Amino acid sequence: MLAAGHGTRMKSQTHKVLHPVCGKPMIHHILDTLEEVGVDQIVVVVGQQRERVAAAVAGRADIAVQEAQLGTGDAVKAALPTLRSDTNTVVVLYGDAPLIRPQTIASMFEARETTGAAAVVLTASVPDPTGLGRVFLDDEGGVLRVVEEKDASVEERKHRIINTGIYAYRLDALQASVGRLQADNAQREYYLTDTLAILRTDGERVIARMVEDPLEIASVNDRAQLAHVEQICRHNIATRWMREGVTIVDPSNTYIDADVVLAPDVTLLPGTLLSGRTVVCEGAVIGPHTRLVDTRVEAGAVVQNAVAVESEIGEQAQVGPFAYLRPGSRVGKRVKIGDFVEVKNSNIGDDTKVSHLAYVGDADVGSQVNVGCGVITVNYDGERKHRTVIGDNSFVGSNVNLIAPLVIGEGAYITAGSTVTDNVGDDAFVISRVPQTTKPNYVRAWKARKQNQNLVKGGDDSGH
Ligand code: UD1
Ligand code: CA
Repeated sequence: MLAAGHGTRMKSQTHKVLHPVCGKPMIHHILDTLEEVGVDQIVVVVGQQRERVAAAVAGRADIAVQEAQLGTGDAVKAALPTLRSDTNTVVVLYGDAPLIRPQTIASMFEARETTGAAAVVLTASVPDPTGLGRVFLDDEGGVLRVVEEKDASVEERKHRIINTGIYAYRLDALQASVGRLQADNAQREYYLTDTLAILRTDGERVIARMVEDPLEIASVNDRAQLAHVEQICRHNIATRWMREGVTIVDPSNTYIDADVVLAPDVTLLPGTLLSGRTVVCEGAVIGPHTRLVDTRVEAGAVVQNAVAVESEIGEQAQVGPFAYLRPGSRVGKRVKIGDFVEVKNSNIGDDTKVSHLAYVGDADVGSQVNVGCGVITVNYDGERKHRTVIGDNSFVGSNVNLIAPLVIGEGAYITAGSTVTDNVGDDAFVISRVPQTTKPNYVRAWKARKQNQNLVKGGDDSGH
């Protein structure tokens, strides 16, 4: 896999092959595909930002270094010493073409081995061949030559059969031809494509195979192509899940990362983004307008207009609309997390309700608890975070401040508007608020007094 060039046209600090497509670096898409094919060895050719690219493939591939980017032929040459000597067939791929399918790679190995050809070129027929090498075949389907765009005549540029840049070589044929490459072309580069003409001159057989769907060889050179590849990848992922029994109301407005796992009978409503290692179990309904990052949603839960990060949502739970679960939130079965509720680093027990306008941070809330409207766990004292514990079956009235660290027992009753600073035992009743003062008819008398004062001052009613 060639991945030495930085990808200048991306105009990025990040190496091109490390840019994510559907949440996963391009190079990981290809490694995953190769692992699915089950190849004997993967060699990644690195150059620019070699440490970062090598770190991204560590443990999954061998590394070869290309010191200077002198062309695709030179890049393959740099990989040769790393290849195992018992290698039969070598397939050449690119780190910036992440959509290649395992079947295509497998068919390249197979075509090479069943025909005994020295090399097999994967071609494609495309409506717009701009920028790509053109492949010319003889009457028997053998490859005559590949002409790069920059070296092509006006006539040759009209040719629509292009070189995908993906090949399968017999190892000895690759070794023999790569060593003889010359950089006598428009770009002063060692073209890997020239190996094909060299092998043909040697009397070797070089054949072509056409890719079924040209979309899978799309490569990324700039951000516009990145968005195009992302769109294809997104479409492929959505199609796969719909075939597995997931309802996606509007696939073009649903964003499912490559490593997300969905169960049958999940429904995804428009505006849903499922990222990272998110898992959604059977029958759950997600969306509209919901973003889940590394979050697990159990069966039958409903999550709408919500954001959840590194959280767990229990069976039949209801989250949202307009709820925010921050990292470390574990919400139990049949829990209700309603509108404008924020939960962070907290456990919420089964059947508990936090229905409106509350902040639950660093808390362990038991089961069947009612957390009223406007309840706040006051978890931060300006220096440190403290935990709040609320026992099963407790009732926390509206607009209660729970000043942590705080432990409230089971079955306790905290009256609305209380500020609770001391621990509360099981079944206790707490009221902690300023006693009410009522002055009958006070407002009418007060307004009358004010009016009299204005009259004395000369009735200046200008409002200044
Ligand atoms: C190459 C093919 C062209 C084909 C096209 C398909 C050659 C000469 N041309 O052209 O026929 O249609 O791919 O996309 O091979 N790389 C290195 N080291 C280098 C040069 C390149 O690792 O010294 C890597 C780059 O990081 C890049 C890939 O190889 O990912 C392709 O190289 P590039 O020079 O862009 O080849 P193309 O002009 O695309
Ligand atoms: Ca290219």
